[in-house]
This record gives sequence, structure tokens and C-alpha cells, in this order.
Amino acid sequence: MSETLTITDNRTGKQYDVPVHDGTIRATDLRQIKVTPGEFGMMTYDPAFMNTANCKSRITFIDGDKGVLLYRGYPIEQLAEQSDFLETAYLILFGELPQQRQYDDWTHEITLHTMLHTNIAKLMEGFRHDAHPMGMFISTLGALSTFYPEAKEIFSPESRRLQTVRLIAKVPSIAAYAFRHSIGRPFNQPDNDLSYPGNFLSMLFRMTEPRYKPNPVLERAMEVLFVLHADHEQNCSTTTMRTIGSSHADPYSALAGAAAALYGPLHGGANEAVLKMLHEIGSINNIPAFIKRVKAGEGRLMGFGHRVYKSYDPRAKIIKRMADLVFDVTGKNPLLEMALELERIALEDEYFVSRKLYPNVDFYSGLIYQAMGFPVDMFPVLFAIPRTAGWIAQWEEMLNDPDQKIVRPRQIYQGSPPRDYAPRDKRK
Ligand code: CMC
Repeated sequence: MSETLTITDNRTGKQYDVPVHDGTIRATDLRQIKVTPGEFGMMTYDPAFMNTANCKSRITFIDGDKGVLLYRGYPIEQLAEQSDFLETAYLILFGELPQQRQYDDWTHEITLHTMLHTNIAKLMEGFRHDAHPMGMFISTLGALSTFYPEAKEIFSPESRRLQTVRLIAKVPSIAAYAFRHSIGRPFNQPDNDLSYPGNFLSMLFRMTEPRYKPNPVLERAMEVLFVLHADHEQNCSTTTMRTIGSSHADPYSALAGAAAALYGPLHGGANEAVLKMLHEIGSINNIPAFIKRVKAGEGRLMGFGHRVYKSYDPRAKIIKRMADLVFDVTGKNPLLEMALELERIALEDEYFVSRKLYPNVDFYSGLIYQAMGFPVDMFPVLFAIPRTAGWIAQWEEMLNDPDQKIVRPRQIYQGSPPRDYAPRDKRK
């Protein structure tokens, strides 16, 4: 016997049996309950999708209470320790870890597509010298759709695969160009003999030397940060990717939208906001006064709290451990002590404890990025590079899901009742 939920309408005394599948009810099954006779039917009101599953997914699992994060079933701790970004991206996109041959082919395919069209370079040169790199990144992603018009063939698996390879290969190049433009240095071409993060570091930091040799500790740190950021199920930017994709836009346009959603300080812009916050606090002595202001509702403790994690974000734990290795190479970030003290105070404070506010992925990542030589406005771009794998995997899953349609939520209209247009001179 299938499970049902029985709802009694106290207004009419009628009972309705609503089927329960996967622990959820379908919002459209509530339409049989009429609010007034003959109308559309009962809707659910759920701003910000606080309690609404928008899709079925097989990609990423999070248990927010226990601090568990799995990509295709594999714990994030094991992937961060033993895998690399391209392998993890393969896993996220195609569902299984690659065999050696598949891994080699995949890596080869990606390295063949790292170069950008020269007109992309021209386009990026057109930005003001002080343009925010994330603004450049978002615009250039959108512009890519004009370079690859065949990307509109979204129902062709071959075309989707080609755009996937292009996107994974080109996002570090676009990010590096944005960085080089903002510091007034010439663009570096990719070096296909280096690893994915090694090539990225070369495109960012190579000066006049013919070959750039990335520091192995920093190269590995970049790799781990990319693995940690590769996907995070139905967050704001992923939902944007799925929403834009649901209108059958090409993947470059959808990805530009997803990256724009990531830009905000409540999402991928949070690591930038953490550093700004630490600078504003200025010294350890000012922390108690800062915490007091946060508790009074005058601002937030950036890098703390999460819609899903109600315990320590597992990614933050890994980053915190990795910070020591990075700082051995780069020297300690002077803001680290302030961050540790903020965390210590917040984890003991009733306000944060009762609301289950713990450090999230962004609390420590910015400190590492800064120590590696990145300006704060590059931080959201660094988040967007690996998340590209997750966005594309979620887009692909959405396109192949027969339950999905163009996204179109309902609303509760609270505006004016019908009224007649009056000419300007007759308006009151
Ligand atoms: N500092 C102070 N108070 C906070 C914070 C914070 N960082 N986060 C939540 N709260 C309070 C909030 O004021 C509310 O208190 P009350 O019940 O008294 O009104 C309560 O905790 C619940 O907050 P909420 O806004 O309902 O929670 P949410 O799930 O809507 O927000 C969040 C999640 C991540 C937007 C929020 O915690 C936040 O703004 N954090 C700071 C920004 C940040 O670090 N974002 C990065 C998220 S992780 C990376 C990513 O996935 O993008």
C-alpha cells in the first residue's frame, strides 16, 4: 500500500489523501483542495525554497546536522586527501571515478581546450583597469556563447560534452586573464605540461621566466580548494543554473547567470566579505565590541552560518588544517590570529551556539588565498572555477530529468484590485 498523508480541511470538513513519495508530498497534489470553489487550488508559500525540493539529484549529499558532504557517495575528506580536481570533476559530471585510461583521456581533452580565442583577450582588455575580476569573469562567460553558437544544441550529448570540456578548460584561463588585466600585466598563455591548478598558477603569476614552476605545497593547496568547492547541491547559484537552463538557454549563458548569483556576499562573495570584516575589526581587542554589534543585529559575522550546515562545515575543517601548510610557505597571514579568536569567542557565545552558527567554507579560505598573493576581489572568481563542474553536472541532470519543466513559481498577489487608467492631468 502506498503511503499517503490525509489532510482535513476544517473549512469544509472534506478530507484529502495526498501521496507521499521519498518523504515528500507534491505541491501540485494540493491543488485538489480548493480555496474558493472553481479556482486554481491550494498552493504552498515557501519564499527562498526553505522547505521545497526543486529536483531529485544523484550528485551531492549533505547531512547538515552531522557535517557530512559526499560527492556521488564519496566523502569530501577522502577526495580532498586522495583525489585531484580533474578526477573529482569527472566523478561529479559522469557519476563514477575514472579508470586510469579515462582519467588520462579526460585530462588530455581538458588541456587541449585551455586557450582562449584572441578576441576574448581583446574583449577583456576593454574593461576599465579597476574592473572587478568577477564582473569580467561573468561577462566573458556570457560572451563565450557568441563564440560557440553550436552550444545551443543542448539536446545533443556530443555538443554538451564539448561545451563541458571547453568550460572546465577555459574558466581558469578567463580567471587568470581577469587577474592579469586588473594588475596591468600581459596575459600568460596556458602551459599544458602543468597540472590543472599548476597551469592556473602559471597563468596568474608567471613573469619573464620561460617556464613557471609552481610551489608544490601551493599547487596542492589550490587543488584541494578546488575539490572542496566543486559542488554543493541546490544552493543559490546552482538553482540559478538550473533555472536559466530550464528555459533551454545555452550553457555559457546559464553559467554566466550562475556565476552572477555566486558573486553576492551571502554566497561566494562571503570570503571576500570575511577579509573586509577582519580588516574593519582591526585588532583582537576590538572583537568583543564587534561581536556585540553582530548580536544587536548590526551586521553579520561573515563566514559563519549556513542554510544547511547546523554544525561545523566539513570543508572549513579541511581548510583550517591546510592553512598551516600554506602559511609555512607564504608566512602567516596576520589576520589569522584574529580569525581564530573570533571563532573561539563565537563558538562559546550563546547567540551563535543557540542558532547553530559555525564557521563555513569561506571563513578560512580567504586567509589562504590572501597569503598566496590573491587580492580579495579575486576570491569569488576562485570559487567559481571549480564550481563550474558542479553547475554543469546539475544542468545536465536537469536536462535529462523528465520531471523538469521551465521554472515558473507562483505568487500571492497583494497589489491593487483592478482600476481604470487616468490621464496624467486627472490623477490625484
Ligand atoms: N552572523 C550573525 N547572525 C547570523 C549569521 C551570521 N553570519 N547567520 C545567521 N545569523 C542569525 C540570523 O540573524 C538569524 O537570527 P534570528 O533567528 O535571531 O533572526 C538566525 O541566525 C538564522 O539566520 P537566517 O538568516 O535565517 O539563516 P539563513 O539560512 O537564511 O542564512 C546564510 C544562511 C549563510 C545566508 C547566513 O548564515 C549568513 O548570512 N552568513 C554570513 C554570510 C556567509 O558566510 N555566507 C557564506 C555561506 S557558505 C558558502 C556558500 O555556500 O556560498
